[in-house]
Amino acid sequence: MKTAVFPGSFDPVTVGHMDLIARSAGMFDRLVIGVLVNSGKSPLFSIEERVNMLACLTEKFSNVSVKSFEGLLVDFVVQERAGVIVRGLRSPQDFEYELPLAQANYKLRCNADTVFLATSPEYSYISSSGVKEIYRFGGDITSMVPKLVAEKLQDVC
Ligand code: PNS
Repeated sequence: MKTAVFPGSFDPVTVGHMDLIARSAGMFDRLVIGVLVNSGKSPLFSIEERVNMLACLTEKFSNVSVKSFEGLLVDFVVQERAGVIVRGLRSPQDFEYELPLAQANYKLRCNADTVFLATSPEYSYISSSGVKEIYRFGGDITSMVPKLVAEKLQDVC
């Protein structure tokens, strides 16, 4: 069974993330979404909220599960018996950032390969940090996040 981990902060999950989840769920037998517990970042949504939202949004995929993780990604990958890490690339700048991380992860655990998926062009400008900033200043983020997230954002901001 080929298992992949799709890690991230998902604060909040965007339509770009959802596109990558749908595409990678079709490529692997099992896809585990790993939501980083990152206490240093003071997230907009708590870890429970992020996990619950993602669980709700991925209900229709029978091979997708959502879990939180702390510490090193490679340890989570081993825990989940996964061989692949999935990351999206929106731009060459993303690749510059992601390549050393992928290489470090491979060095840390030689069975942890990273597979990069090119973000669909219509989503390449979308980032979680951009969504947060646009929303904070009253911009319309409804096309950038799933409906559930837009509704939840109304509650927290
Ligand atoms: O959605 P993000 O914030 O771009 O995701 C970043 C993430 C979670 C993939 C990255 O920060 C990560 O892997 N953190 C876990 C700590 C870790 O393993 N660091 C070493 C990377 S070489």
